[in-house]
Amino acid sequence: MSEKKRNVAVAGATGAVGNQMIRCLEEADFPVNSLKLLASSRSVGRMLRFKGDLIAVEQLNEDSFKGMDIALFSAGGGTSERFAPYAAKDGCVVVDNSSAWRMDPDVPLVVPEVNPHAIADHTNKGIIANPNCSTIQMVVALDPIHKKYHIKRIVVSTYQAVSGTGKKAIDELFDQTRAMINFLDYEKSVYPHRIAFNCLPHIDTFLDNGYTKEEMKMVNETRKILEDDTIGVTATTVRVPVFYGHSESVNVETREPMSASQVKLLLDKAPGIKVMDDPEKNLYPLATDGAGQDLTLIGRIRDDASVPNGINMWIVADNIRKGAATNAVQIARILVDEYL
Ligand code: A2P
Repeated sequence: MSEKKRNVAVAGATGAVGNQMIRCLEEADFPVNSLKLLASSRSVGRMLRFKGDLIAVEQLNEDSFKGMDIALFSAGGGTSERFAPYAAKDGCVVVDNSSAWRMDPDVPLVVPEVNPHAIADHTNKGIIANPNCSTIQMVVALDPIHKKYHIKRIVVSTYQAVSGTGKKAIDELFDQTRAMINFLDYEKSVYPHRIAFNCLPHIDTFLDNGYTKEEMKMVNETRKILEDDTIGVTATTVRVPVFYGHSESVNVETREPMSASQVKLLLDKAPGIKVMDDPEKNLYPLATDGAGQDLTLIGRIRDDASVPNGINMWIVADNIRKGAATNAVQIARILVDEYL
């Protein structure tokens, strides 16, 4: 393990995920030599804390990455598309949390528990993509099943927290909830409908096929990470009035015979997973269990009697941590330990 210290940049440092990236670097005791915090011109001069030091936020620009070794990006797709190539040109490897580069065949899309070997392909473009939050927790749970029983089809419905949309959405849920319990008028600007006390079957924009971009991300990214284009995936993604922690109802059909009890044993031993499954004791993972920790929590594992080799399960994780920042920092850790 290399203990050489690195120059690290966080682009989008003032955002919900960027801020968590800074916390994850601290928690992981990442070998940081210097930390550069980047955001838009709106945030220049804001001071953010890292390991007891206050660091001034700088404006992201084309020269921000000179002398940097690694940049963690979470500043939106357009920003990544524009600035990641400048970082790569200056020899700074980008771990990008946006959807800008995920489906580029030259860019590895990595979940360390599943396909860490793909990190080797960072040399293609100098960019590694961090998958969509809902995809990450699903593939952590499904990869052990796929390796042993070969997944044929996945049907997933998500229950996604507002923090996945960013800071403004967290404020919107809080403000609307406060307004409503005080019988006041509420305002909406982030979502097209009220999110407080509601469920919106609409995440990201709609496509011509009637699905949303978020739903198609789950289809395409799952196949890329599991390295199997034959897997059928269909998704319905729903925003719910929860601050932190995505939940998913997942139905899985495999080619080889398997049962819920076999899957429970398999997942119990799998990396990054905690099985919480004891219905008699009302034990199953909740969004509140997922929030603030790094494991993917799985419960309600049961046989699906409507197909020969099917199970249903409930998967929960912290969308800002394992679904974004933690996964990015885990990738960066493997990158510095094994490749840089
Ligand atoms: P800023 O705070 O200066 O707007 P979130 O997803 O929580 O909304 O956060 C988005 C992050 O991306 C913030 O840190 C935001 O900075 C940053 N960001 C958005 N647009 C740009 C841009 N054009 N250049 C640099 N950073 C950006």
